[in-house]
Amino acid sequence: MHVLVIGSGAREHALLLALKKDPQVDKLVIAPGNAGTAAVAEQRDVDISSADAVVALARDVGADLVVIGPEVPLVLGVADALRAAGIACFGPSKDAARIEGSKAFAKDVMAAAGVRTAASETVDNPADLDAALDRFGPSAGQPAWVVKDDGLAAGKGVVVTADRAAARAHAAGLLDDGHPVLLESFLDGPELSLFCVVDGATVVPLLPAQDFKRVADGDAGPNTGGMGAYAPLPWLPAGALAEIVADVVEPVAAELVRRGSRFSGLLYAGLAMTSNGPAVVEFNCRFGDPETQAVLALLESPLGQLLHAAATGTLADFGALRWHDGSAVTVVLAAENYPGRPRVGDVIVGAEGDGVLHAGTARRDDGAIVSSGGRVLSVVGTGADLDAARAAAYDILGSIRLPGSHFRTDIALAAAEGRIQL
Ligand code: GLY
Repeated sequence: MHVLVIGSGAREHALLLALKKDPQVDKLVIAPGNAGTAAVAEQRDVDISSADAVVALARDVGADLVVIGPEVPLVLGVADALRAAGIACFGPSKDAARIEGSKAFAKDVMAAAGVRTAASETVDNPADLDAALDRFGPSAGQPAWVVKDDGLAAGKGVVVTADRAAARAHAAGLLDDGHPVLLESFLDGPELSLFCVVDGATVVPLLPAQDFKRVADGDAGPNTGGMGAYAPLPWLPAGALAEIVADVVEPVAAELVRRGSRFSGLLYAGLAMTSNGPAVVEFNCRFGDPETQAVLALLESPLGQLLHAAATGTLADFGALRWHDGSAVTVVLAAENYPGRPRVGDVIVGAEGDGVLHAGTARRDDGAIVSSGGRVLSVVGTGADLDAARAAAYDILGSIRLPGSHFRTDIALAAAEGRIQL
């Protein structure tokens, strides 16, 4: 099988490494990729938001399967163009990708499917903002305001704050930029990310994971695209996963089929395990980053065959997934000033070992690997338990040098110490 992966992050690097282990995958191509993915796959350039360019590349490399990593090409309909060209694609149609692209659409689907989620209101007129803020946050007896960009924002469009001025400023800024704002009620309880391979009404869950969205230890500082993750979740009670699949993911997949927006690809449920049971924080239409780096490190089943089955309508026959025992921990190394405007162009030392996945990296003309984005590397450690996986990940990080860079030191720590309670 020839597989073309679209994207350039550590998530795509992890997808390539897992695909490479599949005995049926005999050719791997990545576009546009980064300095690390070039060592795993043939690297090609492409404008990932151009359906014509992706289809032309898929034909050129003889792709039997195209796996689309990021949400932007999905929301723009690149998967539709590939399917129309007769090329199997792992990734939802433009219509189904609205589950991530429009939070208002996702809320409507969840309401119809009877799935618990935060109460919400969309504001598109600045004149309505103050009255809407009064109905949420501390003014409505909740611990904080949750203010989101209604469209795609790479995880950075969310502000959770008990400071009304900060909530208002974020919302007003989004409205000034012409983006509708979603105000939500606050969901208590630990969060988890559940990735499911979905084809129509068929749902195959992967291991549950947890990510860390705030930039600094102790969940301090602004939100980011994700600073680390671990899998599986020792604090999740037995049976909870099956319950979430049955009560949340399957009803949403069925509702999407019912309304003619059949989903085929990776459906990512972000959930809060509240005192009243699981509630959806968000759905995404693709693998999450950095959770994928941890989850796929533990996958034993052949990933290429799994994604191909979903893309060709045979997922229901694939059978149960197999997993390696133990835990995996991902820690993200970010550039100076991330999640603000990151410093780029610095030489990275020690970026080529095992367990080092690349995101914002490029190869300079003189051969040096340099930083080229905010989240630069993901390191992945595995071990018999979370303590061992943490030790492995931080050990790898200790041998990497990037001036001005930063990382969290507490990824998976609370879970390893048994401090996460439901
Ligand atoms: N882990 C957050 C995301 O992928 O959106």
